[in-house]
Amino acid sequence: MNNRDDNLAQVLFSESEIKKQIEVIAKQIENDYKNTKNTLCVIGLLKGSYVFIADLLRLIDLPVEVDFMIVSSYGNEKQSSEVKILKDADLQLSGRDVLIVEDIIDTGYTLEKICAHLKTRDPSSLKICTLLNKPSRREIDIKIDYNCFDIDDLFVVGYGIDYAQKYRNLPYIGIVK
Ligand code: IMP
Ligand code: MG
Repeated sequence: MNNRDDNLAQVLFSESEIKKQIEVIAKQIENDYKNTKNTLCVIGLLKGSYVFIADLLRLIDLPVEVDFMIVSSYGNEKQSSEVKILKDADLQLSGRDVLIVEDIIDTGYTLEKICAHLKTRDPSSLKICTLLNKPSRREIDIKIDYNCFDIDDLFVVGYGIDYAQKYRNLPYIGIVK
């Protein structure tokens, strides 16, 4: 364990396990989009997805355009109406194939809000890719197109994912005590 902290209980996914699984997902995405006419638009949700999106996209051998959105999180509030978009995607999305990249899908409220919003921008397709999925926590039915790992109801950090803004630079995914 590093990051000089003993709040980390254990490693859930090592660097090499993450890499292996992202390679699998990247190939699926490459295969699914290889015949699309328009350049794929990939939209990462900041900040949690920044490491994942960087590694994922470098394994996809297709032309892509990249953009980011910022969504506010209000602690433990669970209403989708309370999920606020602080930064929208700048790319032109109408008629485009759009792929959202998220770090963790938990209750599903964030993705519900993002998808409803992006649909108003008239993409020709909208899919979701997540690094982690917590199915036991779901409150909103979300169709996930690409998922690297299902996990139990655990609080995880690392590989871009934070606890109070810390631990994002851990190269593995760990469980907080
Ligand atoms: P949802 O709207 O409940 O699906 O929330 C998803 C967001 O909650 C993720 O994008 C994360 O920012 C945050 N989140 C959920 N679980 C964890 C966790 O275990 N560690 C850190 N952030 C988490
Ligand atoms: Mg997030």
